Amino acid sequence: HGVAQHAATGALPTVDQVRALIAAAHDRYAGLSEGVVADYIPALAQADPDLFGLSLAAANGQMVTAGDVDVAFSIQSISKAFVFALLVDDLGRDAVFDAIGVNNTGMPFNSVVAVEMNNGAPMNPMVNAGAIATSGLISGIDGAAKWQRIRDGLSAFAGRALELDDEVYRSEAANNQRNAAIAHLLASYGRLAGDPEDIVDAYTRQCSLSVTANDLAIMGATLADDGINPISGERVVSGQACRDTLAVLASCGMYERSGEWLFEIGLPAKSGVSGGIVSIAPGKGAVGSYSPPLDPAGNSVRGQRACAYLSRVLGLNLF
Ligand code: DON
Repeated sequence: HGVAQHAATGALPTVDQVRALIAAAHDRYAGLSEGVVADYIPALAQADPDLFGLSLAAANGQMVTAGDVDVAFSIQSISKAFVFALLVDDLGRDAVFDAIGVNNTGMPFNSVVAVEMNNGAPMNPMVNAGAIATSGLISGIDGAAKWQRIRDGLSAFAGRALELDDEVYRSEAANNQRNAAIAHLLASYGRLAGDPEDIVDAYTRQCSLSVTANDLAIMGATLADDGINPISGERVVSGQACRDTLAVLASCGMYERSGEWLFEIGLPAKSGVSGGIVSIAPGKGAVGSYSPPLDPAGNSVRGQRACAYLSRVLGLNLF
């Protein structure tokens, strides 16, 4: 494949080549019927399993898309990556490193055992324990103020004002016993900065922010572009925050499948249970994908396949 040489040059292929390859990726995997739509949050179970969108935002601001790239869905765990980037700037990387940690647990995203086995350490910001602790440390005197900062920060990453999906928020808030338990467990170890219920509410709201595949691509491209949103031109986070976030995503972004993902696809990425994935090629851009059916670890089946393909043919992979 002639275009894969670009892995070594650090440049994307021409925009015409990118267009053809994004369309090809969509065609190749649209018919795939594996995977199951998440139903542990009742509102998520209503998602149409046939939806499939692929969006690439280049670090120079060029966008190439295929399929359902304007369909809104809740960002879910993908929020964890961007809230972590905001926290690195709010608190400083050393304090974040000490408070949260950066090692993969090897366990499911909502594991309580992982916290217990590590003396109350939240472990890393991409599992629920670490993400709840991260949201708790974001600037703001209470949950409402932290939520405001999170919403404004993620909106700056997307380059537009993101809205809460109220139905998903209510549905998750009414089924949130496990996250509340994780927050109280962290508080029992003195590892949560504030009231557990208040912080879980901010975390649940951040997961319920409504985005599209296009938004994910632009948010990811901001991390690829050293913290500057390539569409709005706004600096959203520092270059240090981007570098730290990409390092954490490489080791922890795809849950207990993170090692396999890095081995097969070679890019930092983050998935969410609503079916989104953002994959970031530093300096080049990012791919946002949306397709609700998930594998057993909670990662979108079509999104993973399409990203594996694009990583190869566009030369996005770091390794
Ligand atoms: O904490 C939860 O259960 C969800 N709001 C977020 C989970 C998520 O996306 C993890 N996923 N793959």
